[in-house]
Amino acid sequence: MASTADTKRTDAGRASSTLYSVLIGLTALTLLLQGLWAGIFLEHDGARDAAKNWIDVHARGADIAIALAAAATIVAFVKLRARRVLWLGSLALTILLLLEAYLGGLIRDEGQDALTAVHVPLAMALIGLVVWLPLHAIRRG
Ligand code: HEM
Repeated sequence: MASTADTKRTDAGRASSTLYSVLIGLTALTLLLQGLWAGIFLEHDGARDAAKNWIDVHARGADIAIALAAAATIVAFVKLRARRVLWLGSLALTILLLLEAYLGGLIRDEGQDALTAVHVPLAMALIGLVVWLPLHAIRRG
């Protein structure tokens, strides 16, 4: 029979998993919206001034995604340390998001448009990773 201490530990573990899944789920939603903002400003291709506000929204979305992924990494590292795949995967996600934002900045500020061919596929890979992480969390309980 499970002791009260065991039950409390299981409940705490479940709460941490839920918090982690919520943070990663919100990161996924923010990444999906990044594609939407990009779709809107790319409509004004070649006219950056007309698209300025939406590029700014895209930049703020990047900040939010990075903050959420970093928070998920901290929760996974502090509360779910035994599940190495989760915190290592979330750490990789956070670092790749920082790289993605850096590339975006080079495209906008330095006019390095060729980097769009890296920025967009990297965004697709990030969405793959951010969907896989919570599925992994659920499958492993
Ligand atoms: C399908 C997804 C995405 C597409 C198609 C896309 C496309 C683009 C493009 C074309 C630019 C250059 C804007 C310009 O012409 O000046 C840009 C900038 C940028 N992107 Fe993305 N992007 C996507 C996802 C992301 C994601 C996931 C992030 C999150 C880190 C991100 C962060 C940025 C940042 C920070 C900038 C620079 C904005 C600024 O400096 O104000 N993008 N993106």
